[in-house]
Amino acid sequence: MVALVSTVAYLGLEARSVEVQCQIAPGMPGFHLVGLPDKAVGESRQRVHAALAAMGLALPAKRITINLSPADLPKEGSHYDLPIALSLLAAMGVCDAEQMAEFVAVGELALDGRVIPSPGVLLAALHASGADKGLICPAAQGSEARWAGGIPVLAAPNLLALINHLKGTNVLAEPLPGKAAEPERGPDLRQVKGQETAKRALEIAAAGAHNLLMIGPPGAGKSLLASCLPGILPELSPAEALGIM
Ligand SMILES: Nc1ncnc2c1ncn2[C@@H]1O[C@H](COP(=O)(O)OP(=O)(O)OP(=O)(O)O)[C@@H](O)[C@H]1O
Ligand SMILES: [Mg+2]
Repeated sequence: MVALVSTVAYLGLEARSVEVQCQIAPGMPGFHLVGLPDKAVGESRQRVHAALAAMGLALPAKRITINLSPADLPKEGSHYDLPIALSLLAAMGVCDAEQMAEFVAVGELALDGRVIPSPGVLLAALHASGADKGLICPAAQGSEARWAGGIPVLAAPNLLALINHLKGTNVLAEPLPGKAAEPERGPDLRQVKGQETAKRALEIAAAGAHNLLMIGPPGAGKSLLASCLPGILPELSPAEALGIM
């Protein structure tokens, strides 16, 4: 049987779909990783082996082949550890292979089985959202992934917690979207003397997202009124914040 897990390859600011395929077949025991892995991806075998051992799981004494497809696309980075481990666990029958089809997985594994951060989670989350899938990512990056919108995010502190969640024995908490840094406060509308009509126009424009054209003699307070606008605008939703990034 071949177990499949989705992940991504980062190409600049773009995330491309990569499928991790794992086959466990009779033959000379060994663990082979193919599909143009770079040095960091190649070393993933040792980390996955150690992380599984930390959970008390030994690799089957069979020929294990992992293929990163498309095989002609170079794979870089440590975020392949988690999808490789999950494809292996699915092939071993520890995880449900069908359940894996609903997620894109990214994350580096520590030797003790912790899932640790790797760069690019937001890109992976946006990619998962476009493909109508959930995301499995490191716990520390759950709030970053949440910015991508309403997709399910499994932010796993370690491999064991993730398996327990997938089996339904111990559910992981949904991460909350991270807070953006408080913007610097400009002048307050209270500082504007008089100009009641202009202030009302400003409030209506802010509430209804309308455009504004200010006309008046020099020194009438147009620049002052305009600089008060950011202070009364509603907070950006995660999708809006990403749009203007
Ligand atoms: N209604 C007001 N209340 C308080 N301060 C005001 C008011 N109108 C103008 N000012 C003050 O007067 C100065 C000039 O105002 P501002 O620069 O906003 O004018 P402006 O309409 O943008 O002029 P310009 O057309 O030359 O750009 C600023 O220091 C501003 O704080
Ligand atoms: Mg001005």
